[in-house]
Amino acid sequence: MTTISVEGGRALGGTVNVRGAKNAVLKEMVSAVLAPGRHRLRNVPAIADVELMSEVLAHTGCRVEIGDHELWTVVPETLNPVAPIELVRQMRASILVLGPLLARCGEARVALPGGDDLGARPIEWHLEGLEQMGAEFALVHGELIGRVPGRLKGTEVELPFPSVGATENVIFAAVLAEGPTVIVNAAREPEIEDLITQLNAMGAVISGGGSSIVTIEGVDRLSPVEHSAVADRLEAGTFGIAAAITGGDVTVTGCQPKHLRMELRKLSDAGCEVEQGEGWLRVIGPDRPTPVDFATLPFPGFHTDMHPQMVALLSVASGTSVITENLYDARFRYVGELARMGADISIEGQHAVIRGVEALSGCPVLAPDIRAGAALVLAGLRAEGVTEVADAFHIDRGYEDFAGRLTSLGAVISRSS
Ligand code: EPU
Repeated sequence: MTTISVEGGRALGGTVNVRGAKNAVLKEMVSAVLAPGRHRLRNVPAIADVELMSEVLAHTGCRVEIGDHELWTVVPETLNPVAPIELVRQMRASILVLGPLLARCGEARVALPGGDDLGARPIEWHLEGLEQMGAEFALVHGELIGRVPGRLKGTEVELPFPSVGATENVIFAAVLAEGPTVIVNAAREPEIEDLITQLNAMGAVISGGGSSIVTIEGVDRLSPVEHSAVADRLEAGTFGIAAAITGGDVTVTGCQPKHLRMELRKLSDAGCEVEQGEGWLRVIGPDRPTPVDFATLPFPGFHTDMHPQMVALLSVASGTSVITENLYDARFRYVGELARMGADISIEGQHAVIRGVEALSGCPVLAPDIRAGAALVLAGLRAEGVTEVADAFHIDRGYEDFAGRLTSLGAVISRSS
């Protein structure tokens, strides 16, 4: 068990740099499967999920060499189109190999992911999109067996909701399909735009990235490329909230503030001074935050993966905040842990009412997922005494050396296994 221990009460100060976004890098590793040869990916964070994705790709016959914030993926002509349950269970993003494997091999056997820490998380929109392109699926003993009679065919795919994963799986399938595919109601996340930039450099013909209508002209073959991943807006935002919750002054470099517009606006509403420029942002926290309401939404709305960190901040605000979680049915699981630290939060369906308290008090808590784990560390930075966040392996999945980087900003924090 990995535990992060935080001694609260110190204002953080200084500069921290962020690397590439986990949720871009994982997909940009998968996209390599589409083109035999040696690919290079730069600005890669040293996080557990990158290692897990390397294992998924190794299972398909690719070789991933991880270097210092970069990696190479060597993709063979012939692939083993399988992602087993042991890997899919550890990381749901493994299901993104479905589209590329169907496109390259005409078949795929990928374990169906169950629910996870954030709720049921079905994938029927991925499958419906791929079926419209000609794929056929059968679920046999928990494994999705996909086949494509002939070649995938471009078509119009209208998503019921701008799902990040469904948009990506359909894009992956469409780049090597016959004819054009139009995704209507596509997700607009910056990580998808970055993935499209990488795919276009590989020879794909995709337009409309960053908008809700993405058009893909299928091509016969793609080539390996070198690509540098877009900055991790979630890491940048999390460090911004670390400044906010401690009344500190932190500058984050290597980031793109335009990808955090709504989150920075809410930090400003909470009483923070927010400054930004090309590639950097600075957050100066207030003595005590003011209450703020927000609702999580797909980009460019307030990101669900910034929700727990923001609630940690609002738990010590000078009044009551009301927030609405629109993406995940089980995202509030961390609230009980924050309550152990003295937070006053009540949950009604997808809404939370957060009555700000004067002070939090450190105690042992359990990280239920990546973002909630980070939020509990942030709460610990503000709390009186010591907070021990157990199951910190969740945090390692998405944040490179979180404790070490907070230490460099003046936090008193340590990690034990
Ligand atoms: N959904 C369905 N059916 C589907 C697909 C999605 O009902 O076929 C629902 C999901 O259950 C969820 C909502 O639609 O309620 C949005 O899901 P989406 O498909 O957009 O999310 P995802 O692709 O599974 C990615 C990120 C998540 C992030 C979400 C939302 C990766 C690897 N994961 O998940 O990141 O929360 O988009 O932005 O990119 C994290 O990094 O901590 C994380 C959980």
